[in-house]
Amino acid sequence: MSSLAHKRILLGVSGGIAAYKSADLVRRLQDRGATVRVVMTAGAQEFVKPLTFQALSGNPVHTDLLDPAAEAAMGHIELAKWADAILIAPASASVMARLAAGMADDLLSTLCLASEAPLVLAPAMNQAMWLHPATQANTQTLLSRNVTLLGPDAGSQACGDVGPGRMLEPLDIVEGLIDAIAPEQMLEGKKVTITAGPTREALDPVRYLSNHSSGKMGFAIAAAAARAGAEVTLIAGPVRLATPAGVHRVDVVSTDEMLAAAEQAADDCDLFIAAAAVVDFRPKVVADQKIKKEDGNDSDVLSLVKNPDIVATIAGRTSKRPFVVGFAAETEKVAEHAKGKLARKNLDMIVANDVSDPEGGFNSDRNQVVVIDRDGEQPLPAALKTELATQLVALIAARAFPDT
Ligand code: C5P
Repeated sequence: MSSLAHKRILLGVSGGIAAYKSADLVRRLQDRGATVRVVMTAGAQEFVKPLTFQALSGNPVHTDLLDPAAEAAMGHIELAKWADAILIAPASASVMARLAAGMADDLLSTLCLASEAPLVLAPAMNQAMWLHPATQANTQTLLSRNVTLLGPDAGSQACGDVGPGRMLEPLDIVEGLIDAIAPEQMLEGKKVTITAGPTREALDPVRYLSNHSSGKMGFAIAAAAARAGAEVTLIAGPVRLATPAGVHRVDVVSTDEMLAAAEQAADDCDLFIAAAAVVDFRPKVVADQKIKKEDGNDSDVLSLVKNPDIVATIAGRTSKRPFVVGFAAETEKVAEHAKGKLARKNLDMIVANDVSDPEGGFNSDRNQVVVIDRDGEQPLPAALKTELATQLVALIAARAFPDT
């Protein structure tokens, strides 16, 4: 397997203890056929010596923007043009901030600005730095510019903290890079519709019923399907997420709006994936004015009616029926309940996850699922939602379109 054969990868290493893992990353990239050149920031050189990377990559390491000797050998613009992809691992909070701001104050940031190659980051930092609103905002800016983020993973950190911010392991970074720059086109020519996020049902002009769905899983699947070559329509409830590259997004609020958008998209669609957390009930009547507690509204204020089941409606079609995949978030007897839903809703496949498990669930970046169809069950190990999405898309594509 050499899916990076003939690829020229510019590996940027920035300051962080995870820089020691990047030495191994050079080797793992070469194992898959890549030619690697390394750029180190000043911070990175405090952790690992350039000589280590020079010996491993077989190429001189680039460290300075204004070094005449280095510029004479291979100027920074030449280096920017040389790269088929730029991978920064570890990507520190500072590097992410400078890239988001479009700065060019050292060699690595200048190369990123001067290059048209895909940019892939493996962030690594203290968990508080990762969770800081500034870093989160920078992340969204970078994602909206089609930068790929691999990780970070969660767990114990070198500083003693526990939380998100660990750099992914080198092998996972290599897989993520391949998926970002040279993915298998398993869904080429296929039209895929995905529902994601919550729906929201108005009670009155100021209040609504909804749930805690973040939309992360559905958005990750949309991104993975697009990378696999599909033409993707993403029907999104109210979420704060950037639209993945190459995806057509339709924003909706209520369940009825999501159903209408789904019906329209499904008319011309090969695969329908329902990852949305649809609100099951809505108020019988939406009040024109704010409901007042003073107006004798002491109890039984709301009367609810059942919402339409979007995925069951699509799966129940007798014509223009795509391959239909549902999700089942369960807290007990996960496989049993999911199998019931598969049959009841006439789905082709269902992705079941245990939301009581701290490893997964609504707002988490990670998830652990079992994929069930009429032929059996396949558990997928706990992983970041972004990685899980890639595996799920591969599995769904193989079942939905076995002959392509
Ligand atoms: O809520 P429930 O567990 O039944 O959801 C299972 C699947 O059905 C999910 O894929 C969800 O997106 C879909 N669903 C839907 N419309 C609803 C309720 C659920 O499409 N009204």
